Amino acid sequence: MQSMARFLAIFSFETQEQPDMCKLCWTLLILLVLAVAGVAYKVIVVGKVELAEDGRQALKLTPGERNLVLGEMRDFLVAVQGIIEATNREDMGAAAAAARRVGMAAQTAVPPALIAKLPLEFKKLGFDTHRKFDALALDAEQLGDPGHTRGQLATLMGNCIGCHASYSLVAEGAGQ
Ligand code: HEC
Repeated sequence: MQSMARFLAIFSFETQEQPDMCKLCWTLLILLVLAVAGVAYKVIVVGKVELAEDGRQALKLTPGERNLVLGEMRDFLVAVQGIIEATNREDMGAAAAAARRVGMAAQTAVPPALIAKLPLEFKKLGFDTHRKFDALALDAEQLGDPGHTRGQLATLMGNCIGCHASYSLVAEGAGQ
């Protein structure tokens, strides 16, 4: 009888101890999940931004990263000019070719370190712009209607305006 009582005492000791252990495990697990979620939120959604004097969000990049983004921007401008010029000549093949040069497939590989610095909204606008150039190219070929293509270009350029109104690029000290 006595040994039975001792057994039960041990058992009850263990059942009391077990929930405490579990509580610790769960607390650690939750903290870990929160930490991972926090890092993921910072990397995927927030990026490396700072409110600039002109009221826009300044993306803080290295000089090399800034040059990469600006190079892509100048390609966008070349494409816009090419599309307008081609639609004026009603050369829809040339309009499609100009748009494809800045479509999804032509997008330069963006280094992961740069992606981590870009806010989600910026990435979405960027992807959507490449996608809209592809859609414009496809329609230019399939419909062959300069008016339709110019309409698509006008809509697409809403992305250029929207992003430029919200963001600027700032190069942090060289060599970073
Ligand atoms: C996802 C955001 C985004 C989109 C979309 C976007 N831009 Fe930009 N662009 C920027 C930022 C940020 C800058 C730098 C502005 C600054 O620092 O003041 C920039 C700069 C530029 C520059 C200056 C390049 C240089 O060498 O200084 C040109 C030209 C340009 N964009 C053209 C375009 C055109 C044309 C489109 C649309 C077809 C477009 N951009 C779409 C974000 C964007």
